[in-house]
Amino acid sequence: MLRSTAAMAVVALVPPGLPGRQLVRAAQSLSSGLRLSVRGVAGPSKKAHGLVKPRFPLLIPEVDETARVVKEKTKPSPPLRRFIACPELARAVVSRLEKGRGPELQKPLVLESEPGPGILTRTLLNAGARVIALESNNTFIPNLESLKKKVDGQLEVLHCDFFRLDPVSAGLMRPPLMYSERLFENLGILPVPWTADIPLKVIGIVPQKRERNLLWKLIYDLYERSSIYKYGRIELNLFVSEKEYKTLVAKPGESRIYQALSVIYQTACDIQLLHMEPWSSFLTNSRNGGLSIPKSVLLQNDHLCLVQLTPRKDLFTESLTTMNSSIFIVMVKQCLAKCKTKLIDKLNLWSSESGKKLLRQLEIPENITTGSLYPEQYKALFEIMTQSNEFDQSWLYENDSLDDISINI
Ligand SMILES: *[C@@H]1O[C@H](CO)[C@@H](O)[C@H](O)[C@H]1NC(C)=O
Ligand SMILES: *[C@@H]1O[C@H](CO)[C@@H](O)[C@H](O)[C@H]1NC(C)=O
Repeated sequence: MLRSTAAMAVVALVPPGLPGRQLVRAAQSLSSGLRLSVRGVAGPSKKAHGLVKPRFPLLIPEVDETARVVKEKTKPSPPLRRFIACPELARAVVSRLEKGRGPELQKPLVLESEPGPGILTRTLLNAGARVIALESNNTFIPNLESLKKKVDGQLEVLHCDFFRLDPVSAGLMRPPLMYSERLFENLGILPVPWTADIPLKVIGIVPQKRERNLLWKLIYDLYERSSIYKYGRIELNLFVSEKEYKTLVAKPGESRIYQALSVIYQTACDIQLLHMEPWSSFLTNSRNGGLSIPKSVLLQNDHLCLVQLTPRKDLFTESLTTMNSSIFIVMVKQCLAKCKTKLIDKLNLWSSESGKKLLRQLEIPENITTGSLYPEQYKALFEIMTQSNEFDQSWLYENDSLDDISINI
């Protein structure tokens, strides 16, 4: 690399009249000279960085050996996964999913994330559902494929990861890469209007390590109607930790658990707890067979909660659109960065001192803190702020609120 760059530099420096062979030689001598001088530089500069020559010569391992060690050490242990392995739990899940459905929805289309051994898959199929199984681990595919052969068109199996659909930057993703557009097109699923019935139910367990980030990613997608939400009001049925569930449904005044995520989700979705199950009911792939239950300092966290998130038909309005909903999210995040902040101070910041007027319009007490405002009040506030011409959006760019978004994605 070094040599070729040096040679190129020589080509540029040598006068045009020089014959070919001389030119090559000039390049060679110059590049070897350069290498020497680079070596010469390397010594002192290392010392300058505080590196001391070892007293005994160190043994340099062979390249092959080094490669083996690096591979060994960096071999990723498979990410933690939980499985529904017990038929009773599978039956409980399916009966909760079916609850409250009219006869016309008796055969729902269900997208199952990470079916693994396929216990829940079989139970869904037995209940008459049409199932699309998205499995990211090759190991489980052959089994699911043979199940598919038995059920004649009722099951579709795809090698991909629901929670890694539509990656922001494909370069960082582990295969198999999948985009919801391609996925839905292959399955023959067409987009329906936002106010139409639910086109598809998703069932899955949210990977624990990325739980919070994934909840943010999904809700950004919903507010933008991007990714799966291009196809309508996709209903998510997700196992999340009890701790995260409590955040999702927290009420104003519940200090510390009422957060921006609570407001953003409650504004966008009808949230229902379908089922609670102790962590120990799930099988894990952890090598030592442990349950890997996350610790929670604030809250009791003994269960995984199956929570149904149904996007609201009336989420989008004239003022809150897919184009500017991210501003709503930033506004809520800024407000709830600290739940004891006076709302009026925030409003005055954004709306050139018209906080008092805005609050009066909504009949909200002037001394209210951001942690005591209901989700629907946040939405109403956003709507009247966008309607008033005083709304100054410069606050959006004045601080780190946008960095905030990218971190959470
Ligand atoms: C796939 O599953 C098998 C069986 O549980 C496991 O041994 C393997 O490590 C998994 N592979 C990945 C990439 O997670
Ligand atoms: C959001 O979009 C609507 C419709 O285009 C517009 O009336 C409103 O001012 C926008 N709000 C913001 C904060 O950009």
